[in-house]
Parts: sequence; C-alpha cells; structure tokens
Amino acid sequence: MHIKRQRGWEIPEHLATPEAAFLSRRSLLGAAAGLMAASAFGDRAFAAAGSGAYPAAQNAAYTLDRPVTPERYSGDYNNFYEFGTSKTVLPAANALKTDPWTIKIDGLVEKPFEIGVEDLVRTMGLEERLYRHRCVEAWSMAVPWTGFPLSKLVALAKPTSGAKYVQFQTFLDKAMAPGQRQFFYPWPYIEGLTLAEAGNDLAFLVTGVYGKPLPNQFGAPIRLAVPWKYGFKSAKSLVKVSFVAERPKTFWEGLQAAEYGFWANVNPAVSHPRWSQASERVLGTDQRVPTLIYNGYGEQVAGLYKGLEKERLFV
Ligand code: MTE
Repeated sequence: MHIKRQRGWEIPEHLATPEAAFLSRRSLLGAAAGLMAASAFGDRAFAAAGSGAYPAAQNAAYTLDRPVTPERYSGDYNNFYEFGTSKTVLPAANALKTDPWTIKIDGLVEKPFEIGVEDLVRTMGLEERLYRHRCVEAWSMAVPWTGFPLSKLVALAKPTSGAKYVQFQTFLDKAMAPGQRQFFYPWPYIEGLTLAEAGNDLAFLVTGVYGKPLPNQFGAPIRLAVPWKYGFKSAKSLVKVSFVAERPKTFWEGLQAAEYGFWANVNPAVSHPRWSQASERVLGTDQRVPTLIYNGYGEQVAGLYKGLEKERLFV
C-alpha cells in the first residue's frame, strides 16, 4: 500500500490521528449532515455554463517571475489524498463525479443557501490569474488558474458579525474516493482562513486551469488557491463553505499540528521540522530557486498579520 511508504509530506503511521480527534471530527460531520441549508437559488433554472465560460480573460494584475508550468507536469504530479498518497492520482481521480455538484454556504450568514457550481460561475463571472503555488514539500509550480475572488463569495454569503473564520470542506464519499477508506485520516478534508484572509484579493476560488474547466486531479469542480500559503491550505473539490466563530481544526492539523499549523504562510527562514524551506524545486525543470517570504506576495498580505506576531504564522 502506498500509505506505508513514507514520503516527505506523508506522516508516519505512529502519528496518525488520535482516536479522540477522529471521533470529534466524526461528530462534527454528523452535525453538518443534520444541517439542511435553505436554497436561495434552487428555483432558478440556469442553462449549464459548462465549458462555454472558458477561456476567461486574463487579469493582468497577476504576473509571474517564471514561466507557466506546462500542464503535462502540473497535471501529473498532484496531492489529492482522497485518491491516494502517490503524486500520480490522475487515473484514480477519474472516479470523481463532478456533475451535478452543489456547494453549501452556511454557518453565521444572513441566510444559508446551496448553489450549483455552474450557477455560481454564472453569478460570479470568471477571470484568469497567473499564480505561483508552493507546496510544503518544497516543490513549486506556476499555474494559470481560472476562477473568481473568494471575497465575492463572502459578499454573496453576507456573514453576520459573529463570523471570524471561513471553513472549507471537501466532499466525503468513501465509495468514490478510496483514500477516504483510510480510517486514520480525519476525513473530510477541512481547511480554514480568517475572514480577513478570505477577503484579501489574492484568495481565489478556482474552477478552471489552462483555459478550461478543472481536470479532476486538480480538485474539480471548485477549489481554493491561496498563493501566499503552503499548498495544503488550498482545499480541493469543495462542497461546503461555512462561516464560523472559532478557528477551524484543519485536516493536517488534526493529523500532526506540530508540522502543519493553521496559518501555514510560506517562509524560507522557518524550516519544516523535517526539512528546510529555504528553496524549492520548480516542477518540470531541474532548477531549485530560493523561496520567498509569503511566496512573493508579501506586499499584498503581510499587513494581515500585524499584531499576530506571537502566533505560529509560518508553520
Ligand atoms: N485538497 C484535498 N481535498 N485533498 C488533498 O489531498 N492536497 C493539498 C491541496 N489540497 C489536498 C488538497 C496539497 S498538499 C497541495 S500541495 C495542493 O492541494 C496540490 O494541488 P495540485 O494537485 O493542484 O498541485
């Protein structure tokens, strides 16, 4: 089994989730299943937006310091633990059924709702942005994502004053995703941002890449891209976005908080406990390049962390 072969990113089995954490995640899931959000859009009969929305116009404000990584590299070297722990999850991810797909917006919002991804795309409009992506495993790529700013979804959701964090949840379907049969992982995959981070213009909800709808292994049909943070913050195949008062307990934090914290901002000066973060291997090349603080996006995001210096911002 792949799971037995320890990779840099993979935690050893002795660090698997303690039972208590596993059980609390299970009860969270149970509570979530009990919530049936009202649908604000359910009665609208939109025609499928589908691939007609691609390619979207590129937003020239988001430029790169390096060439775009060819899809043959970025599309065949993916972390998507729901479909296995190897980087070659592409064949297994074919089992992901993305149509129909709805996403639920709930928690501390004026009125919870559920919306189909194609309707969401139609409501939000799409743009293309060139972003760097830096995995905590010390490899990187540069990708032309298509999507819309997360801040637009926040505005649509109308969070109430008690909302401090946004929690992102990936689908849970053991029949479709063999990785989710590995009981020691705290499925479903959960990630979180502060409301302020979610409102930063760089935080992006992604529905396409390379000018077309997202291929499954990239996290179809909708995922996050948070380019100043390690890649594990960019949760894939989202089914729920919840506005909450407390800091969400994330998937990787649940497994090994000492190595994968809540903030996970990129910083070359703060090593992972098991390897240096000073440089990164650029996918599809034989280059290693120096890693930049906040993955090079400091000008846009450093202000988010004023007054939080005591937090473990870079783990
Ligand atoms: N989201 C889910 N649901 N499951 C995952 O295993 N892996 C994360 C992140 N989002 C992951 C996920 C990690 S570790 C990284 S680096 C990126 O997805 C990888 O995105 P990519 O496959 O598009 O490169």
